[in-house]
Amino acid sequence: MSSALMQNYGTRELNFERGQGSYLFTKDGERYLDFGMGIAVNSLGHCNPKLIDVLTGQANRLWHTSNLYNTEPSEQLANKLVASTFADRVFFCNSGTEAIECGFKAIRRYFHSKDLGHKNRIVSMSGAFHGRSLAAIASAANPVHCEGFLVGDPGFDQAEFGNFESLLCVVNENTAGIIIEPIQGEGGISVAGIEYLKAIRELCDSHNILLMFDEVQCGIARTGSLYAYQQLGVNPDILATAKGLGGGFPIGACLATEEVACSLVAGTHGSTFGGNPLATAVGNAVMDTLNDAGFLRNVSELGDYLKAELSTLVQRYPLLLSEVKGLGLMVGLYCLTDAGQLITRLQEQKLLVVKAGGNSVRLLPALNVSKKEIDSAVEIFRKALSDIENN
Ligand SMILES: Cc1ncc(COP(=O)(O)O)c(C=O)c1O
Repeated sequence: MSSALMQNYGTRELNFERGQGSYLFTKDGERYLDFGMGIAVNSLGHCNPKLIDVLTGQANRLWHTSNLYNTEPSEQLANKLVASTFADRVFFCNSGTEAIECGFKAIRRYFHSKDLGHKNRIVSMSGAFHGRSLAAIASAANPVHCEGFLVGDPGFDQAEFGNFESLLCVVNENTAGIIIEPIQGEGGISVAGIEYLKAIRELCDSHNILLMFDEVQCGIARTGSLYAYQQLGVNPDILATAKGLGGGFPIGACLATEEVACSLVAGTHGSTFGGNPLATAVGNAVMDTLNDAGFLRNVSELGDYLKAELSTLVQRYPLLLSEVKGLGLMVGLYCLTDAGQLITRLQEQKLLVVKAGGNSVRLLPALNVSKKEIDSAVEIFRKALSDIENN
């Protein structure tokens, strides 16, 4: 059947009908082990029973009111996010890109409200990904994503990820904000060093610059702490979160300190669906699960186990693989062989993973994945690598 969908995702071969836990099933009943989880979205696996209960319960009560009114689930979720982070205020939206957009607007509005409108430029990092809106692609400056879309100077500058000296070269009196993913995802799994992040925080403090973290992918317990910044020891002024927060239901949120948030006065920003009761009810259930005793520790332990297993593959296949990087269950396997070809082989053997920059394979399993499922995934890697080696 020819598709009426726009072809911006290229050819998609697989068609899934249902999911359960770490597995996806095609119409023909073929079972795939999902170590991509909708690109770090299905944080508690597919069709998590607790999330289904909460979602259907909320669906029977109230779906949508608009932001002209308050609803309990959004107030509760905002309180939970504030109680567990640096933030004092939360703005809800529907995606990571929208959370980023809110953060960018907050940065500009903050200086505008202080009569410092000349401070309006935002620095982002090489290899970054912040979404697909015009501001998001302009900030990340990936030429493939920008081609044909941008006009004029959208107000972003770029420094090299991980290189503090290069940041010093681009920061000036017009710099209003610095945005960084504490752990890059799309660009290849790269963890920002603690000393580097501390130096950025000090630079921001001494130059009246706001620090924004993009934790759309690395947040929501993915790295073993609720947000990655919490184990890297540096607080931002603004943080974008999305993906795993809804466990598969669309939601995003921009978190900010009171000082920053108060510049977004009534009428300056908004979203029809942001804070929708269905999305925030599910978000509450996700947050409650992450707060269960031992949940975060388990993510760290499973992540260490997965990385250790993958490291044995790197040793076994030194001509095909180079390195394992990551934190918690956000893991990148860097390849010497073509990562795309490896991913195809894995898919043939019913394991789903995601490609990332730097010729790497990204593994983002459900946060409640079992050790046995990790073993199955590693076994499939072993088989696929052996096939490549023998051909
Ligand atoms: C780090 C990061 N920021 C922003 C986004 C954009 O989020 P969304 O696709 O939900 O708009 C993504 C999506 O992959 C991401 O990984």
